[in-house]
Amino acid sequence: MRPLKLGSRIFVDGGDAEETKALKDALGFLDGQTTNPSLVAKNPEAKARLDRGEKFAKQELLDFYKGIVQEVSMLVPDGSVSVEVYADAGTTAQRMFVQGKEMYAWIPNAHIKYPTTAAGLEAAELSVKEGMRVNMTLVFSQAQAAAVYAATRGAHKGQVFVSPFVGRLDDRGQNGMSLIKNIMDMYAVGDGHVEVLTASVRTIEHLQFALALESDIITAPAKVLYEWAENGLLIPDAKYHYDPNGLVPIPYESLDLAVDWKSFAITHELTDKGIDRFAADWNALLV
Ligand code: G3P
Repeated sequence: MRPLKLGSRIFVDGGDAEETKALKDALGFLDGQTTNPSLVAKNPEAKARLDRGEKFAKQELLDFYKGIVQEVSMLVPDGSVSVEVYADAGTTAQRMFVQGKEMYAWIPNAHIKYPTTAAGLEAAELSVKEGMRVNMTLVFSQAQAAAVYAATRGAHKGQVFVSPFVGRLDDRGQNGMSLIKNIMDMYAVGDGHVEVLTASVRTIEHLQFALALESDIITAPAKVLYEWAENGLLIPDAKYHYDPNGLVPIPYESLDLAVDWKSFAITHELTDKGIDRFAADWNALLV
């Protein structure tokens, strides 16, 4: 059963419908799922195939991804499933948008994931104008979140997610959770058309702090969500103390959400690295 006090939607970050089904049974509810190329590569069937020395042709891999997404979609019919386009450093906005449109037709409840780069934001701008739902991924700075807000102005609530990656900031000594708080504070003066989806959650402490902050959505690996279930789906209140364990806080920036998205400092080293990693994991599946 969904806890009554729960102020966030809970998604699983994964690429395996069997895992989703078992987790949904264990939690008693599930609001959606996020996927990405690396998670598709970890799907047990994909792994077994690689172990047999077999790889996928391009269309075959897309069909495989589509199959996963369709199964998952049926498990969370009232929720959302994020599907990520293939992008490498050279992928244009138009190519992302064409893929996004195709993937959007796979299921009735998709959010299309685009990387938060200039090309990805341009693709998002086009998508939102066509009424598509988007999830802007690989966000590592408040400026990128401001650009997401500005590029999707006019969208309705629920149409746009922004996904800041907590764990990958922690990995390099920065307090990723402080970015979640900063983005939420910045958006508090906005019109609410972008929802904050806390991503790259690695620990139960990340989950608990995001719950205490009431991040609109939290996506976490099944492992962390099982741990939460073992704790009785505990929801900490606003007084919850998050111990950053020596991680350096990310300072709040005062940014104007009303300006053109192109005026923000959009580039981030971790976004570029993230794109390379997703592309490499996807390409490793291909013949
Ligand atoms: O939710 C985004 C996620 O898939 C990335 O997580 O642990 O690879 O940083 P991670």
